[in-house]
Amino acid sequence: MRFEHAVLIDAEACIGCGLCRDDCPAGNIVVEDGKARVLAQDCIMCGHCVAICPRAAVSMTGFDDEPQKIEEPMALDENALLVALRSRRSIRRFADRAVEPAVVERVIEAGRLAPTGSNAQDVSYVVLQGAGKDEAEAYAVRLFRRVLPLAKLVSSLARRVDVGDRFFFKGAPVALAVVAKDEVDGALAAANMALMAEACGLGVLYSGFFVTATRFSFSLRRLLGLRRGQRVVALLVIGYPAVRYRRSAPKEPAYVRRP
Ligand SMILES: Cc1cc2nc3c(=O)[nH]c(=O)nc-3n(C[C@H](O)[C@H](O)[C@H](O)COP(=O)(O)O)c2cc1C
Ligand code: SF4
Ligand code: SF4
Repeated sequence: MRFEHAVLIDAEACIGCGLCRDDCPAGNIVVEDGKARVLAQDCIMCGHCVAICPRAAVSMTGFDDEPQKIEEPMALDENALLVALRSRRSIRRFADRAVEPAVVERVIEAGRLAPTGSNAQDVSYVVLQGAGKDEAEAYAVRLFRRVLPLAKLVSSLARRVDVGDRFFFKGAPVALAVVAKDEVDGALAAANMALMAEACGLGVLYSGFFVTATRFSFSLRRLLGLRRGQRVVALLVIGYPAVRYRRSAPKEPAYVRRP
């Protein structure tokens, strides 16, 4: 958490139903004399108490994010979701078309809404476009060109690779670096973002190569503004696709154990 928050309960509005107490993952709420009371302000600030209260009696200070009323339970179409998951592909050819700023914001919003361990909300984003994107790619290209001769000694795949000027971002208009201390938090945010990008008609490529470059290039870390302990967990290259896939690709079956 980057900011200080407090959970407040409006005793006037509270009817003592106990829903907030029963749903609090931190055992941080008691109901006494028909009114809910928060025990301490060092909880994980998950907001379940805010979300569940039938009387809107609970609030949290320090957020710009107003709770929105949920009229209907979430209804994701399972078949549509499966078709979408099956038919998505990594996109490596992009149309010469800009991504609208509002669409980039939507993609980041999808990352922001992802869950994080202990509700740490420790994920941040670097938007690479224009000159900043070119500079970042140039640093990564320089690094890879230096190590490629060594890689070619041990890997036949590396022997077939040519690290061109657009090796990492494939000429796409936007690259989004997902930065986090915790890899799982960052990866979950990235997965949300990729889904949102696809829902907006964009193509997505995870650039693991670029993530590797950020581990070894000081110049890149400086450009991305990474602080101590922060790392690029995922890099999403996004843009409108210049390619259309006509069928799904085969994948290995799930390997499932049931001990
Ligand atoms: C974490 C991660 C890193 C990846 N890094 C790269 C990369 O650096 N360059 C690339 O061309 N593809 C990269 N990919 C794409 C994978 O090669 C691709 O997902 C896989 O071959 C399956 O193809 P599909 O995504 O089209 O289903 C990456 C994928 C993931 C999930
Ligand atoms: S859920 Fe709301 S109304 Fe019910 S006890 Fe908690 S604060 Fe009071
Ligand atoms: S924010 Fe979460 S952890 Fe804190 S009191 Fe409310 S439900 Fe409990």
